[in-house]
Amino acid sequence: MRTVLTYGTFDVLHAGHVRLLARAKALGDRLIVGLSTDDFNTLKHKSSLLDFNNRRIVLEAMRYVDLVFPEGNWDQKLADVRRYHVNVFVMGDDWEGKFDFLKSECEVVYLPRTENISSTLIRQELQDIGTQGL
Ligand code: CTP
Repeated sequence: MRTVLTYGTFDVLHAGHVRLLARAKALGDRLIVGLSTDDFNTLKHKSSLLDFNNRRIVLEAMRYVDLVFPEGNWDQKLADVRRYHVNVFVMGDDWEGKFDFLKSECEVVYLPRTENISSTLIRQELQDIGTQGL
């Protein structure tokens, strides 16, 4: 049983998220996801349209995702890798090199991001519709 772990906010799910999760799952047998809590997002100055419970329910419904657990701080990754017996740690390549300290525990893989889509972009477009109308 190869366990793959990734993290993120996964607000307003889009094709970039789905492609990331599909490729991550393909690297093992089960995919677990550390989902940023609302407090952790605030700490990171990251905004999110949907709250943690909504994001969690949507993520749990995805065919690639086997387990979702909360990520509440920067320092839990090593403990998570050990707790869940992780074999492969996956992040988008916007994080390239940032988690190499986990290489003593498991494989660390950075996957190329999908271009021209992000939650920030979608939130911005929704805001534009709100101010300018359709
Ligand atoms: N991701 C991706 N391609 C994209 C957007 C995100 O591969 N176009 C990946 C990220 O690299 C990360 C995971 O999806 O590994 C979750 O990213 P998250 O921060 O939730 O997504 P973003 O859409 O980048 O969110 P935001 O714009 O709010 O930062």
